[in-house]
Amino acid sequence: MTWPLLTLGVLSVAAATTAAGYCSVNTLPTNSSWMQFTKEPVPVEYGFEDKFKSIHCCVKGYRSIEWFKDGVSYPWSAGVSNLILYPEAANQTLYTQRAAHGDSGNYTCRMSNETHSETHTVRLDILEKPTSTPRTMFISKDQWVEEGADLRLYCEALVGRSYLADARSDLRWMRVWPNGTEGDLLPTQTEIKTTREDVEDIIGSYVRIERVSAQDYGMYACVVHSNDHVDRKYVTVHYKFNGLPSLTSWSNDSSIPWRPLVLGIIAGALLLVSLIMLHRRYTLRLLLAARQARARTATAAHRARVLEKEFDVLVCWTAVDGELVRGALLPTLGLKYKYRVHTLQLQTQPDNWYNEVMSQMARCRSVLTVLSPAQYSPQQLLTALRQLRALPHPPVVVLLQDLPKLKREAKEGGERLSDVVSHTRVVPWRHVHERAFWTQLRLELPLPPHQRHNAPHHIKTESTENKNSCSGSLTALV
Ligand SMILES: *[C@@H]1O[C@H](CO)[C@@H](O)[C@H](O)[C@H]1NC(C)=O
Ligand SMILES: *[C@@H]1O[C@H](CO)[C@@H](O)[C@H](O)[C@H]1NC(C)=O
Ligand SMILES: *[C@@H]1O[C@H](CO)[C@@H](O)[C@H](O)[C@H]1NC(C)=O
Ligand SMILES: *[C@@H]1O[C@H](CO)[C@@H](O)[C@H](O)[C@H]1NC(C)=O
Ligand SMILES: *[C@@H]1O[C@H](CO)[C@@H](O)[C@H](O)[C@H]1NC(C)=O
Repeated sequence: MTWPLLTLGVLSVAAATTAAGYCSVNTLPTNSSWMQFTKEPVPVEYGFEDKFKSIHCCVKGYRSIEWFKDGVSYPWSAGVSNLILYPEAANQTLYTQRAAHGDSGNYTCRMSNETHSETHTVRLDILEKPTSTPRTMFISKDQWVEEGADLRLYCEALVGRSYLADARSDLRWMRVWPNGTEGDLLPTQTEIKTTREDVEDIIGSYVRIERVSAQDYGMYACVVHSNDHVDRKYVTVHYKFNGLPSLTSWSNDSSIPWRPLVLGIIAGALLLVSLIMLHRRYTLRLLLAARQARARTATAAHRARVLEKEFDVLVCWTAVDGELVRGALLPTLGLKYKYRVHTLQLQTQPDNWYNEVMSQMARCRSVLTVLSPAQYSPQQLLTALRQLRALPHPPVVVLLQDLPKLKREAKEGGERLSDVVSHTRVVPWRHVHERAFWTQLRLELPLPPHQRHNAPHHIKTESTENKNSCSGSLTALV
């Protein structure tokens, strides 16, 4: 491959380029003629007040270039910008002899050929005085390169003036080894430093590799020293095979090892799912068993408090769920699990539920409400949940269907749904023979008093914590 233009460019850098010459030096090595950038387009530019400044859109193969500053098209009135076109550079360059703070802004060039148009925006910042910290203006994006192809990386930065004679202001490329240490470039990796004619505090550097080989893949750092400050930016050169980005990781630090990552995520998800299923099946049963064991050691005072109330559970429901409650829930609670059950049929409209439940609550240790979200509008459902939440001891709610998304309605009411259900113990209904449902429900309810006929030699009736500590005992056991 030949580099006549580039060699010429390097020579003319040494000979000090003009503002107009910027676009003709260090150009990308290509001889195709369609519309394209001739060098890396730098999106950020710095200048200083009252100093010369130029900005560029280095393109070739275009028919026209138009410029805009913050959306206003060239030519500009003095209030918009002092920058003017440099026609000798074929409209690719704007400049001003004396930059002002007001020239700062976003400059966009739009270049067009017969069929396409493309834009590039340069953010120009006119500063009052030299900076103390370096500001990196450009670094090449990560590259995917085939072996044997050529490669060029570029980095440019505004560095601070050196205050001290021995202070360094410097920009250079380093290799980042897989072990994380930085090293010098290889002899085959050529570095070409650049300066600007307009602002001497802007310095840059190219890395050029003519034929990329295995040792060239990996991470590179653009290291900018300015007085005591160091700025590092990184770029990774990836291996490209047959035009597709490779899944192979060439550098431990840089490229993401997708395959093991994806497999790891899948394995993790499977493990989590099985843990959740095990948890569903066994953890709740263990918790329930532990509670029953603790209940056997309860004090006499404790037991007396349990028997103060006539009933263990007040089961509330509306007409629509009557069949399920009378046919499945009440018999199982009362006959199988020996709860002392009191019942209350609520009105279908939830607006007065609080008062209805309160009228019976004093006689019962806990409240269980059966709710069919499907028969209510979102607004009614929120009302229902709020009424239940207002009870002194929030009830266990057996949901016969999933709760719909109530986020919007709840927000309108000034509350989030999570707040509305946060103090309610929700148990989704599954099936009358589904043991997990009953385990979960019994964990949420206080334990019924121990039955005499089950253990005739027991003089005293065994019992459990009172309803106040129901959820507390759960957390204590976890
Ligand atoms: C254009 O460049 C390619 C290599 O990039 C070279 O092989 C080819 O001969 C060049 N064509 C002309 C017309 O210079
Ligand atoms: C205009 O430029 C685009 C891309 O820059 C190119 O693909 C297209 O062929 C060009 N059209 C003409 C007529 O040159
Ligand atoms: C250069 O800019 C001037 C002024 O905006 C415009 O009249 C002219 O057509 C432009 N030339 C090209 C090649 O874009
Ligand atoms: C220039 O563009 C950037 C990002 O696109 C924006 O944050 C900034 O406000 C713009 N500046 C002006 C002067 O419009
Ligand atoms: C890191 O790796 C490079 C090249 O593989 C080697 O030259 C250097 O000694 C290593 N440094 C450390 C601290 O291991």
